[in-house]
Amino acid sequence: MEKLLYSGKAKQMWQTDDPAVLRVVYLDQATALNGKQKDHFAGKGQAAKAISDLVFAYLKDHGIETHLIKQLSPTEELVKKCTMIPLEFVTRNVVAGHFASRYGLKEGQSLPHPVQETFFKSDQLDDPFINASATTALEIASQEELDQMWALCQQVDDLLTPLFEKAGMRLVDFKLEFGRLADGHIILADEFSPDNCRLWDLQSGDHLDKDVYRRHLADLTSTYEEVHHRLQAAIEEEK
Ligand SMILES: Nc1ncnc2c1ncn2[C@@H]1O[C@H](COP(=O)(O)OP(=O)(O)O)[C@@H](O)[C@H]1O
Ligand SMILES: [Mg+2]
Repeated sequence: MEKLLYSGKAKQMWQTDDPAVLRVVYLDQATALNGKQKDHFAGKGQAAKAISDLVFAYLKDHGIETHLIKQLSPTEELVKKCTMIPLEFVTRNVVAGHFASRYGLKEGQSLPHPVQETFFKSDQLDDPFINASATTALEIASQEELDQMWALCQQVDDLLTPLFEKAGMRLVDFKLEFGRLADGHIILADEFSPDNCRLWDLQSGDHLDKDVYRRHLADLTSTYEEVHHRLQAAIEEEK
């Protein structure tokens, strides 16, 4: 029997008959302020999943292993079950969000090289900042594993920045999560959607990500659908 293992801010993770496989269900909800604010948006789950699937398929085509196994429906898919590494890997190409407020900067300045930040994934603790020595001392990951995950983040940035640019968007920043398979090797897991990245329209600078919800700027679902259409067209064009 299927058992709900975890219900998160954006997805549910269901156990399947195969202990190595999970069924993910994308939910029609969005949260801000680490879950303190939560709202329902019809079609949002499907739109976020559609974007994440395009991105993960693109990364796979370019040699990056992900947890994706197969699509089940517009809101559900099967993934390889991982032991998640409780870290959020944030890569920043442009000053925005907390990086702007923390250092008293205006949003929008391109950074001369990507900034890499790691956060300890814990809703209870509000995802505090964590550095490499704390990560290794607490045995969350080894230095070698950290290096490997950051190298993957860099590869993802190098692939996606030009792809989003072709789709008329600036990839401002993004968050990735990784997990270990039974044999210990690390793969890209979770999702890549505008819930976890910032995308600005290249021409107008309009926000095309969850900031439209956080800042009450536009409709969330139609914004995500727009991102999906643009991304799909850019990927098609490359083929
Ligand atoms: N392949 C995987 N195996 C096991 N857990 C995963 C996998 N991919 C993602 N997860 C975890 O499942 C949860 C996904 O649901 P989500 O709504 O994003 O949760 P959260 O609110 O914790 O971010 C996250 O905790 C994420 O770390
Ligand atoms: Mg999440």
